Amino acid sequence: MTERVLSGMQPSADSLHLGNYLGALVSWIDLQESCDAFFFIPDMHAVTVAQNPAELTERVRRTAAQYIAAGIDPERSTLFVQSHVPQHAQLAWVMICQTGMGEAGRMTQFKDKSAKSGSEHAGVGLFTYPMLQAADILLYQPHSVPVGEDQKQHVELTRNLAQRFNHRYGETFRVPELTVPQAGARIYDLQSPTAKMSKSAESPNGLLNLMDTDKRMAKKIRSAVTDDGAEIRFDREAKPGVSNLLSIHSALSGKSFEQLEDEFAGKMYGHLKVDLAEIVVERLGPVRDRALELLDDPAELDALLARGAQKARAAAEPVLADVYQKLGFLPAAA
Ligand code: TYM
Repeated sequence: MTERVLSGMQPSADSLHLGNYLGALVSWIDLQESCDAFFFIPDMHAVTVAQNPAELTERVRRTAAQYIAAGIDPERSTLFVQSHVPQHAQLAWVMICQTGMGEAGRMTQFKDKSAKSGSEHAGVGLFTYPMLQAADILLYQPHSVPVGEDQKQHVELTRNLAQRFNHRYGETFRVPELTVPQAGARIYDLQSPTAKMSKSAESPNGLLNLMDTDKRMAKKIRSAVTDDGAEIRFDREAKPGVSNLLSIHSALSGKSFEQLEDEFAGKMYGHLKVDLAEIVVERLGPVRDRALELLDDPAELDALLARGAQKARAAAEPVLADVYQKLGFLPAAA
């Protein structure tokens, strides 16, 4: 049987970033070769914090364009938008009802995000966000979920909820595995290399966007914060800046840390940065250009997402019907 995989990225910025690319997209592209792959755009997750509606519409298209430009083939993979498949919201309610307040409160992403606005002001949607994510996943019965390391806790919760439901109501969900890439599972901010690279970066120079111009990408790499000393060596504790650059290099070039340490032995940080800037631009420049071309024809993008949604609904409908039946919901008369 062909294994199924499923994953998604929030459309909450104009551009995906290098962490999204290396932590998830690169492995998605690989997996679609051998797996029945479902990749979607979780727009319902994006509205757990306030979004400008016109901007959100555009960002959904931009995210889709970047998936495709990076190498997701919409003929081979099922590519769709979350809100086009109502079963996500329907199953999310069921998942919410299986989750304890305590276990939801332990989710670190909720704690981080709500700490920013003060937990009294954080929306309830932020609190229930991981249960919607569990629904996204379980609705498609995937064998695995390819994500960056920061999503580990959400996939763990998903596994617990699947097991709990199966235990209470009988075998229903496949319990999915987490797949984290060997290189690139956690990319750090270029300006504060102990913080995860994220859309909400403190300094815009810490965040390398897929849609940046070649010049900006190169500049961000060249001005990345490095560490005391001069040796180019992977040591996350003592040399977080250089280690981050080595991780990015390794994920893009396929070279091991040992190979890179040999290659750059006796050289200065500047050499590593110049070499890496070139590799980044060479790899991401064409992705940006292709994404911009795709965005020139929004009707074609929308049509392609509509076809994906049709396939996704066909996969999701029987799973939700089974869940409703197991719960004992009275079937609606035909
Ligand atoms: P999101 O949109 O924050 O991130 C999308 C993907 O990028 C990975 N990622 C990183 N990887 C390495 N280094 C980083 N600095 C970095 N930053 C982000 C993430 O791990 C993720 O794989 N809740 C999810 C979206 C989601 C989802 C799902 C994912 C909703 N439903 C169902 C999988 C399955 C999120 O906010 O990802």
